Amino acid sequence: MANVVVVGAQWGDEGKGKVVDYLAKDADIIARYQGGDNAGHTVVVGEQKYVLHLIPSGILHPDKKCVIGNGVVLSPKTLFQEIDHLRQRGIHIEDNLAISDRTHLIMPYHLLMESTDEDNRGAKRIGTTKRGIGPAYVDKVGRSGIRVGDLLNLEVFEEKLDFNLNAKARILGKSKEWIESAKTEILEEYRGYAARISPFVKDTSLMLNEAMKAGKSILFESAQGTLLDVDLGTYPYGTSSNPTAGGVCAGLGIGPTAIDRVIGVTKAYVTRVGEGPFPTELPPEMNEEIRQKGEEFGATTGRPRQCGWFDAVAARYAVRVNGFTGIAVTKLDILDETDSLKICVEYKYDGKRLTEFPGQIDVLENCEPIYESMDGWLADTSKATRYEDLPKNARKYIERISQLMETKVEFVAVGPERDRIVRVS
Ligand code: GDP
Ligand code: IMO
Ligand code: MG
Repeated sequence: MANVVVVGAQWGDEGKGKVVDYLAKDADIIARYQGGDNAGHTVVVGEQKYVLHLIPSGILHPDKKCVIGNGVVLSPKTLFQEIDHLRQRGIHIEDNLAISDRTHLIMPYHLLMESTDEDNRGAKRIGTTKRGIGPAYVDKVGRSGIRVGDLLNLEVFEEKLDFNLNAKARILGKSKEWIESAKTEILEEYRGYAARISPFVKDTSLMLNEAMKAGKSILFESAQGTLLDVDLGTYPYGTSSNPTAGGVCAGLGIGPTAIDRVIGVTKAYVTRVGEGPFPTELPPEMNEEIRQKGEEFGATTGRPRQCGWFDAVAARYAVRVNGFTGIAVTKLDILDETDSLKICVEYKYDGKRLTEFPGQIDVLENCEPIYESMDGWLADTSKATRYEDLPKNARKYIERISQLMETKVEFVAVGPERDRIVRVS
């Protein structure tokens, strides 16, 4: 297989875990390039359900290698919880996982900074996953972050920790005693992580580039989604990294010429968790119906996801900023009992029609969706094993999405389990 990027085309939770798990069989290495344990990627294998936060979804394939790239922000606490949990369930980790020495660490004070920041925003809070993601990226860009490689030299780690605790104490109005006790606690906790993490630490850019030279294939796994991208998403209501395909290169230390295909993952409808505008949001009753059918509750925080009609304006934008070569549509089965479906084809803003996704949040907040309607299929799609098995109206719906996105739909998922996915020939 070629080197393929899998990117969320919406606001996250599109079913990337499932699509990565499906495509992983044809790859040698699966690599995460951004985000952290704000992600929750679900893979269902038979009766077993796995939710991965930090480790790439490819880890469930014992013959594949997984990489946590330099663009990720890593909570060592979550990492070892995840490793222990997976090991208990019989998943082989050891030599199957490599972590970049350049990956930034999430520190306990990042969680504190985040809760203060959210409180300061009041009604305009972001509604984060409370994992310290934003503040960890702030420190990275501010050039004061502490990286995985620093854990390999505890003197360096301690020096950077001192600097950061003093800086944070000034911002948070904390005392000298707070600095001292935080330092003692963190040093003890992170010393333990240092000992455990060292076997996994590698120059992963070198590893990936050497693998490509040897003819191996890489699957790049995004967390979050296009509309949460810090540059291209619904700023400021998004995350602090670049899930879009362009993030792969900086997040893993590979060149753009290494990428062969970019698969956008989109639900057959849309969901969103956290704050911020959501033009196609369903009215409460229907919202609840889809939420229950689709089990739309956050895989990381358990928060209810808001549900909406498929938004082709946002989807076309995702195609443009990622350069998708193909689409995977997930959760088609959730619409099996919906008799009439809507697709948003344009927005109306200030009395005018908008065909392109706006860059300003105040514009998006005031956009009204313009819908076209389609008849539902009112039949069970979950047993389909070939595209042709899908009811005619379901195929029409997929084909309309494909037409509006001006991109080929390559896969349609019809259930959470590993084998519930059909290839569109
Ligand atoms: P991710 O973050 O993009 O990996 O997505 P999540 O795992 O957070 O959320 C997707 C949810 O939908 C998970 O519970 C999946 O098991 C489930 N899922 C994925 N594809 C399908 C599908 O085609 N049909 C159904 N019914 N569930 C799906
Ligand atoms: P996966 O990888 C859905 C959302 C949060 C919040 C915003 C910022 O499972 O698709 P953050 O903690 O990143 O600073 O929160 O982004 N968010 C997600 N929403 N799926 C995710 O990940 C998300 N990761 C972050 O709800 O609105
Ligand atoms: Mg998720």
